[in-house]
This record gives sequence, C-alpha cells and structure tokens, in this order.
Amino acid sequence: MNWLQPLVMILAISSSIAEDYRLPATVVPSRYTIDLFVPDGTFTGQNQTFEGEVTIRFTVANSTSSISFHHRVEQLTSVSLATASGVNVPISFISYSNVTEIATYNASTALVVNTEYDLHIKYFNSFETDAMVGFYRSTYQDESNRTAYLVVSKFEPGNARHAFPCLDEPQLKATFLLSITYPADQSVLASTNPNYTTVVNSIYNKTTFQETTLMSTYLLAFSVSNFTCTEGYTIANGVTHGVCSRPESAPHRGWAVEFGTSVMRTLESITGIKYGTYMPKMDELAIPDFAAGAMENWGLVGYRETYLLWSEEDSSNAYKKGIATVIAHEFTHMWFGNLVTCQWWDYLFLNEGFARFYQFFGAAAVKQTLDWELDKLFNVEVVQVALLADSQKSASALTSSAVTRAEVAAKFDTITYSKGASILRMIEKNIMGPDNFIYGIRDYLTTYAQKSAIPSYLWSSFAKYTPSNVLPSGVNLSATLHNWVEGSGHPVVFVTQSGNDVVLSQERFLLSGNDTTTQYYVPITYTVSNDITTFWNTTVKQWLVPGENLIISNVLNGSDWIVLNNKQAGFYRVEYDNTLWSAIKTQLKSNHLKIDVLNRAQLISDTFNLARSGSAGGYGNWSYSSVLDLLSYLENETDYYPWYATIVGNNHLLQRVGYNTTVGNKFTSWMLNLMDKVYESVAFNTLDSNNQVYTTKQALILSKACQYGHSGCISKSKQLFDEYKNNGTKVPKNLRTIVYCNALRYSDSDDTDFRFLWQKYTETKLMTEILTLLSGMACSQNSTNLKWLLSQTINSTSGIRLQDFTTVWSYVYTSSKVGTNAALEYINENYQALSASYSSVGSLISNAANYISEEDQLVYLEALANITGISESHKNTTESALKSAQSNIDFGTKIASSVSMYLDSPSSDTTSESPDSTSDSHVFKSSYLLLITFLFLCMK
Ligand SMILES: *[C@@H]1O[C@H](CO)[C@@H](O)[C@H](O)[C@H]1NC(C)=O
Ligand SMILES: *[C@@H]1O[C@H](CO)[C@@H](O)[C@H](O)[C@H]1NC(C)=O
Ligand SMILES: *[C@@H]1O[C@H](CO)[C@@H](O)[C@H](O)[C@H]1NC(C)=O
Ligand SMILES: *[C@@H]1O[C@H](CO)[C@@H](O)[C@H](O)[C@H]1NC(C)=O
Ligand SMILES: *[C@@H]1O[C@H](CO)[C@@H](O)[C@H](O)[C@H]1NC(C)=O
Ligand SMILES: [Zn+2]
Repeated sequence: MNWLQPLVMILAISSSIAEDYRLPATVVPSRYTIDLFVPDGTFTGQNQTFEGEVTIRFTVANSTSSISFHHRVEQLTSVSLATASGVNVPISFISYSNVTEIATYNASTALVVNTEYDLHIKYFNSFETDAMVGFYRSTYQDESNRTAYLVVSKFEPGNARHAFPCLDEPQLKATFLLSITYPADQSVLASTNPNYTTVVNSIYNKTTFQETTLMSTYLLAFSVSNFTCTEGYTIANGVTHGVCSRPESAPHRGWAVEFGTSVMRTLESITGIKYGTYMPKMDELAIPDFAAGAMENWGLVGYRETYLLWSEEDSSNAYKKGIATVIAHEFTHMWFGNLVTCQWWDYLFLNEGFARFYQFFGAAAVKQTLDWELDKLFNVEVVQVALLADSQKSASALTSSAVTRAEVAAKFDTITYSKGASILRMIEKNIMGPDNFIYGIRDYLTTYAQKSAIPSYLWSSFAKYTPSNVLPSGVNLSATLHNWVEGSGHPVVFVTQSGNDVVLSQERFLLSGNDTTTQYYVPITYTVSNDITTFWNTTVKQWLVPGENLIISNVLNGSDWIVLNNKQAGFYRVEYDNTLWSAIKTQLKSNHLKIDVLNRAQLISDTFNLARSGSAGGYGNWSYSSVLDLLSYLENETDYYPWYATIVGNNHLLQRVGYNTTVGNKFTSWMLNLMDKVYESVAFNTLDSNNQVYTTKQALILSKACQYGHSGCISKSKQLFDEYKNNGTKVPKNLRTIVYCNALRYSDSDDTDFRFLWQKYTETKLMTEILTLLSGMACSQNSTNLKWLLSQTINSTSGIRLQDFTTVWSYVYTSSKVGTNAALEYINENYQALSASYSSVGSLISNAANYISEEDQLVYLEALANITGISESHKNTTESALKSAQSNIDFGTKIASSVSMYLDSPSSDTTSESPDSTSDSHVFKSSYLLLITFLFLCMK
C-alpha cells in the first residue's frame, strides 16, 4: 500500500487484552466460496445494503469444538457447519466482540484433524460511504453532470471482514472462488478473470470468477462500476494488462498502460519469477475516492486517480513520475507481500521496505525511465526522510509489536517504508553487492512462495550469498543487522583526526536528548582527497563495532580531507572534528565537483540535522552558523540533489524563524544570491519536458526562488498568469504549480485572481489539475479567501473529496504565515461544524500548530483550548500543541541569533551555542511536508 500522509493515530481505549486480537491457530482455512449480491439501487444512490453468502472450507490443527472468525457485518442471518461430505454439525453462538471483531461458535461435537469442514454463513451489510475501506461506495459526476455510483473493495489491513466473514490474518492463505450478482448494465472486475456469466433475470447478471491462487484475505479485490478499460501489451502470452477508470477519462490512461507492462517485465527479470505463474491477469483501477495512494490487490490494483491517470497536455512531469513510481511500488508487492507475505504486521517492512526499494530501483531499470535518475532520488526522497523520522526518541523499530487495529494502522509509517528500504539498500550496497543481493532475494521468494515470512527467513536467504569476509569478524549477518532491525534509531559516526590516522566512534543520533548505550555494527566506506576515484565504491572497507573505536591507520597520508559513507549508502550520519570539517568546506568552496554529488547532498543534510540537534542540546558544538558557512559553497552548485537537501533544511529553518521576520528575510535574500547560478541553469523560458531531470530541478528551483522573493521569477509568474486569465493562454503544464501559487502570493487583485482559479476548478475533471489549482489558491495572502477555501472542504457540494481534505488543509497552513493563521482561525470559528464533518480535527490542530513561528500566533491556540464545547481530547491536543509551539518559538529565537550572527559577519564561524533542553518535537513529520506536498501531490 502507498500512504499519502504520515498517519496520526488516536489510540482507542479498550478493555481487550492483546491476545484477544489474534485468532487461535486451530482453524486453518483453505478455500472461500463467496457469493455477493449488489442490488440495482446501489447505482442510483437509493440502496446502501449488499447481501452475501460465504462458505469457508477448513481443517483443524488440533481437535477442538471452538471456531472463531472475523466479521464486521451488520447481521449474520444464518451460520451452519457441515463436513465437506455434507454431514451437518450443530453449532451454537458463544461470543462476539465489536472491538476485536471476532465471533466464536461452539460445535456440538469436537472437530477432528484430517477432516475438511465447511462453515456456511449468510449475511447482509451496508457499503461504507466515508471510510473508504472494506466494501465501499464511491461517486463521481459523469459527463452529463449526473452522480454516478460505483462499489469497490479495499481491505489492507483487516477490512476483508467488512465484505465477508473470514479469518482475516495475513498468514492464513486460502483460495477464493468469487461470484457477484449485479445489474447487467454495470461491469464487474475482480482479482481473476471471469470464468462464466449467467443471466439471472431481466435486471441481474451473475459472474463467477476463476478460483484464485493461495492468497491472504487482504489482497482480494472486486468492483462493480460503469468503468471501461484500456488493454495494453500483454505481460506474457495470455497474461493481460489493462487500466480501468471512468469512461470519459479514457484518454488519460496511456502512460500507465505503457509503463505498467514494462515495469512488470522488469520486475519479473529481477525476481526470476513470472507474474503469470500465479495470476492470470493484471488490471489497474483508478478510483475516484481512495484512502491510500494505491493498494496492491492481487490482479486488481487500486489507485487514486492522480496516481494512474495522466494527461500529456495538462499533467506535469511530477505526476508522471508519481504514477511510474507508485505503479512500480504496487507491482513489487506482487512478489513482496502477495507471493511471500509478512507473517504478521510486526514484520510489515518485509512487504513495504521492498516495495519502496523497487519503487525507485525497479523503476530505474525500466526503459521509459532509465534516464530519470530515480536511483539517486532515493537518497533524498527515502534515505534522508527515513533518517529524520528515525531521529525521534519515540521512533519504533522496523520489527515492533502491533496488535490492536490502531497499532496495526500505525505500522504503515515512514520507518516501515523508508527505513525498511534504506536498510535493504545498505545490505545491498555495503554488504552483499548487487548480484548476491538478487540471488538472495530469489532464494527467499522461491523458498517462501505462497507462504508467509519473518525477517530471519530473509536473513538466512541473504546469508547463503553473503561472503563471510564482508561481515564483522566473528559476527553473522543476522547479528550484524540485529540493532538496525530489532532496535530503533541509527548512529552518528564521529570522525577525529590523529596525525595521519582517523579515529571513529559512534552514538545513537537523536534530534533531542541522548542515548549513549545503543550501538550498531556500522559499515564504513570512505574517500580521501588524494584519491577521489573511490566514491563509487560502496563495499564496506572496515566495520565500526559496538563498544569499540575504529582507527583507520595512515589514511590521511597526503590527504587533507576524508569523506565517510560513499554515496550515503550506509544508514547513518557523520560528524567531523573541526580540522577535518574545515578541509571539507575548503574543498567545496574551491572545487565542489571533487566530492561526489550524493555525498554533497549528504554533507548538507547531516549538517542541518547536527545543528538542529546541537541547538536542542544534543550533539557537539554545531550551530546554524556552521550550516550557513557550508551552504555558502552553493553559489557554484547547480546539481539537483545538494539543492534538494538544502531546501529541505531551509524549509525547517524558515518554519522555525518565520519567512517574513527580519532574520527570515535576511536569510532568504542571502539564499537568493547563492541561487543565481542554479536559477540561470533552469530559466523560466527554457522548457524541456522530455528531460525529466531538468524539469524536476526547474520545478524545485523556480518554486523556491519565487517564494524567497526573486523579482524576475515573480514577474514572470504574474505575466503567465495574466495571459491565462485575460487571453486564455494555458500556462505550460510544468510551470502551473509555480505560476498559480506565486501569482496569488504576490497578487495585486487577490479576489479576482482567487475567483478565477476557483472558476477553473469547477470546469475541470482532471484530478492533477484540480490539485494544482487548489494548491495555487492556498498561496493567497487574503485570509478571508483562504478561510472560504477551507470551508469548501466540509461543503458537500464543493466537489472537494474527503480523500483530499488533509491535502487542501496542508496546502493552506504550510503556504505562509497568513495561511497558518487562517487555518487556526477557521478551526476556532467553526469548531463545531468542523468536528461534525471531519473525524481527525486533533491532527489538524497539531499539524497546523507546527507551522507557528511567532509569539503573536499563540493566541489562536490559547483561544481554542477554551472554546465552549471543545472535546476533552481536542483540548488536550491543543494544550500540548501550545507547549510545542512555545518551545518551537524558543528554538526559533535561538537559531535566529545564530543565523543572524553568520549573516552579519559571514567570516566568523562555528560559534558554540550554550546547550539547553529545547525540544523540537512533532517536527519531523511536517518539515518535509511543504516540499513533499509540492513534489508528490501537486502530487504526497
Ligand atoms: C436494498 O437491497 C437489499 C439487499 O438486496 C434489499 O434487501 C432491500 O430491500 C433493498 N432496499 C431498498 C430500499 O431497495
Ligand atoms: C496443536 O497442534 C500442533 C501441531 O499440529 C501442536 O504444535 C500444538 O502444540 C497443538 N496445540 C494444542 C493446544 O494442542
Ligand atoms: C461496541 O458495542 C458497545 C455496546 O453496544 C457500544 O457502546 C460501542 O460503541 C461499540 N463499539 C464499537 C467500536 O463499535
Ligand atoms: C456540467 O457542469 C459544468 C460546471 O457547472 C458546466 O460547465 C458544464 O457545462 C455542465 N455540463 C453539462 C453537460 O451539463
Ligand atoms: C470454470 O468453471 C468450470 C465449471 O464450473 C470449472 O470446472 C473450472 O474449474 C473453472 N475454471 C477456473 C479457472 O476456475
Ligand atoms: Zn506498499
């Protein structure tokens, strides 16, 4: 699955104990025969009920009379048990818990091993309408502006039980023989192809699908809609690939149709296993309302429209990349997750770590995207994001216990996805090497095909292909990886010069506080100034092991600098002593190209975070002065990755000191000077949408230059906007995000410009354009208009979908101080209405509050905490948001003085700041939000 937002979970208080959430291991299902009835009233909006009938064929592992299964249906109308040969076994109801969703029945006689039984259940239930999980209803406006209805499933994790009673745990695999009865004017899709269709009566047809392969309940999928499909090239002989969506969106399916087949074949050749061995076809479905980004249902993958439908004329290259990488992610799951499944959600990284890994490295090997540098993007979009999330004291380990529904949902986080992928990359690059890594993966996939797995199974497959001389002496692979996987966090490696030697030591890196006990086996690679040809070599040279320092002897002989962690393949940060650090900075300022581009991005990211930690009482004497002293080399930098790392760092810095404060303004104008060269390298007038790398850099640099106040950028944006508004000349698709936003941000006639974009919004059905327009409107500096935009997120006739609610809000509160204030004011003024129509107001409050940078903004939280009728939990959330905001302001004041000190006299460097205990909590989630919002949502 591909999530869009970091999940903020509100943990439900429950009286059930952990074990109650797991089914006893006695009942072992082997086949589900499912019959669903979808009434015709579903498609006129008049009926929200469906009926079903399921037969669960099972055996028992031990003689027992107790049978437990999951369901979340309104009513079971009959439950009966028989042997497979038809002998009835009377059963009686024992219990049902609406918390664990487990029903238990008792058989009148003990069931015996080696006998097959059929549990037969009839039931009915309501389609979900808002939740977008289970078997749910989605709607859209068709070409004649009528509301069209469709129903579709989305099960991971633990929601198959809403569509049919089942043993809803990932390791309990079975086959599925599905039939659906539906109005004959609709069409059905499911994980497999239809086997046969019969006419039931004048209204209904009944389609029976081919029985599936052995699979987990959460991977089954089906839909009934009026969608049409476009077939692409087959994946292999007879194994079809189609893309299905609203009929009028047919012209936008082309990119997914083309890329999907290609990436599937690429993944087949990496894994050595043909997709068609287990599934007869692949359809991809664009669903108007979808909770996640996409979902890897076997044979019928579901997507948000923005992740599947792409208009050559109107959708930007950023969306094109989003579609390619999300398809690569979901198709990777066909092997990692679907064929070999995590045995329980504790080990979800076995699914999601690989999916995120090949989302980049799989797509990077596909012919259409070979020159997109997706492998390099992995560093800034995955590794650096994961390091940040993993720097919180509260970060969980890759393997960690998840039992309740809330705990399971919380496992779908940055650690599982991006740290999981980063650790896999460290294993590949630092330890095994690319060929052995593939052999290890193939061994794992063939050994555990159609089964479920735990991490030790993967390590044992990897160990078969890991030469022992690459591991720390006397330590096996699994022990080497132990603290990276079973423990949380990652190290910062300290590098100290001692004559011609360097001495390395380690500590767990935290953004605030210390942990001096956790240590890791750290694979060390490095490059020195007198041999810069070794940056490409990521094979471990020496190990820094727990409890010991590592001396690299004579390494500096003839060199003045050393850079650790070639290409940032290892998952750790590096801090150098003053002498070594000065030598690195001197090199960057005289000729930055001598240091590898990914290591330049690493140096910037590490330095920002060391300063952030140092300023919060963490490591060493790093201050923001030393960050700025490093950044001053950027005047000669024109590569994307160092700039990306810089802008992520800037976003956080400016989020804390404020954009329009004295120091914020001083900083952005200083930054604009440094951007001269890179700005010229991607000029407004030079479009090259066939060049993905160029276009990606252009989008990033222009957007930030405009935001920082670059006058050429602003006037160009306004000019293109006026041509659109006055003459109808469309803005080039790759400049739209920038032009819409900055025309509004710097508008002289905000009301007219704002209304113009809203008018355009009402006229388009293309989701990529809809989000681009909404993100542009969010840049307005008119508080009344911004609050009106927010009011449209809870106005059912506005067309803004619930799935996009948090996106639109984040556009507004991240865009500017006016935006943050408008969001907080809106919550204050409309608390009741908002809580009535949106269930996670608490996370809105804390996320928006995280953008507070100045004292005068605290009034909103103080007022909100005392508003009449505020719920206890929102009051608590607001009070703790207020505390965080206060400490963030203190932190901002402190770094502001460090930034000013440097900008007022740039030559004075690395002034030490006195440590205090400022905590910069809640920050990691949103410091990326602005950038990620821009790159993914307009595409994450
Ligand atoms: C809705 O469909 C259910 C399931 O077939 C049926 O029992 C019910 O009568 C229908 N309700 C209406 C209002 O049509
Ligand atoms: C059930 O049977 C399995 C082997 O099939 C055995 O390992 C387990 O201990 C048994 N459990 C009980 C409660 O008898
Ligand atoms: C479970 O049932 C109880 C009693 O009917 C009810 O109060 C509670 O709200 C229900 N909980 C859930 C999660 O549905
Ligand atoms: C549908 O509604 C839009 C916006 O109100 C309007 O521009 C369009 O003409 C309508 N189309 C039809 C077929 O009525
Ligand atoms: C299709 O249906 C026929 C008739 O019931 C059955 O024999 C056959 O096994 C089914 N094929 C698949 C692939 O499920
Ligand atoms: Zn996934």
